[in-house]
Amino acid sequence: MTDYQALIDDLHTRFKDLDEGDVATYIPQLANTDPNLFAIAIVTIDGEVYQVGDFDTLFTLQSMSKPFTYGMALEDFGRDYMETRIGVEPTGKSFNAISLDEKTGRPLNPMINAGAIAVADIIKGKDVTEKLNRILEKLSVYAGRKLHLDGAVFTSEQQTGHRNRALAHLLRGENMLRGSLDDALHLYFQQCSLLVNTHDIAAMASCYANGGINPVTGKRAIEQKYIRDILSVMYSCGMYDSSGEWAYRIGLPAKSGVSGGIFAVVPNKMGIAVFSPPLDAIGHSVRGMKVFAALAEALTFHIFWSEK
Ligand code: DON
Repeated sequence: MTDYQALIDDLHTRFKDLDEGDVATYIPQLANTDPNLFAIAIVTIDGEVYQVGDFDTLFTLQSMSKPFTYGMALEDFGRDYMETRIGVEPTGKSFNAISLDEKTGRPLNPMINAGAIAVADIIKGKDVTEKLNRILEKLSVYAGRKLHLDGAVFTSEQQTGHRNRALAHLLRGENMLRGSLDDALHLYFQQCSLLVNTHDIAAMASCYANGGINPVTGKRAIEQKYIRDILSVMYSCGMYDSSGEWAYRIGLPAKSGVSGGIFAVVPNKMGIAVFSPPLDAIGHSVRGMKVFAALAEALTFHIFWSEK
C-alpha cells in the first residue's frame, strides 16, 4: 500500500526551494502573489485526504474553472447541442490564442479562453447574476464547501482583459454568442476569480474520479454520463500547447490555471492538486509540473498503464 502522505511530504521537501518561473503579472492583481506558497493535496474516492504545505491558502481558480462550467453547459443542453457550439480539438496554441474553427466558426475546444467565453454565454440563467449564482452553487458542491468570489481579481481582469474582449468580438462576428457579449465576458472573468484552496481543487477533481459524487460529502456534483466528455477534453486540451507532452508523460486528464494551480484526475481512484504560483513559459506552475512528473514515476497512474 502506498503511503500517500509520506510521498507528498517528500515531494514538498524536494521542490519547496526550487526557484524557477515567474508569477503571472498580466492580470495586475495576481502580481501580488507570494511565490513561495506551495501545497499538494490528494482526495481519494474513499474520502481519504492527504495534504501538505499551504493547502488552506486561497487563490483564484482561473482556467481551472473551465471544465466545471463546461460540465454545467453539458447538463443544461446535452452533448449534441454542445458539439454544435464548441469543438473538442486541441489547438496546439496558447490558452488565449486568437483562434476559431475556420469552417464552422466554433471555438476549437472548451479549455481555451475562446471556448470558455462561449460556455459562459451558453449556460442557463436569466442574467449574469443568476448565472454566477448557479456557478457558485455548483462549484461549491464539487468543493464540498461554500465558495466565494475575489472582487479585486475580478475587477483587475475586467479592466485589463483586452485579449479576451477581442475573442468575444470574434465570437460575435461568427454569430457564436447567443446573448450579450459584455455579459459573457463578465461571467467568464467572474468564474476565473472564484477563490479556492488546494484542498478544494483536489476535492473537485475527486468528484470526476468518483462518478460525479463528492466522496467526502456524498453529494452529486455532475451527472455521471458527462464525465467522459469533460475528462476527454481535459486530456487532449487541458494543458494548452503542452497537452500532448503532458498526456504522454503524465497520462492523466488535467487542468492548470495562471494562479499556479494544476489538478489532475486519476479515474476511479483520486483527485490530485498542486499549487505554487511561479509559472513556466506556457503558463503552468513550475513546481506543479515537477510534482506531477515525480508522482508519475512513483505511482503507476498513467491511464494507459497495463500489466499482466
Ligand atoms: O483569461 C485569462 O487570461 C485568465 N482569467 C485565465 C487564464 C488561465 O488561467 C490560463 N492558464 N494557464
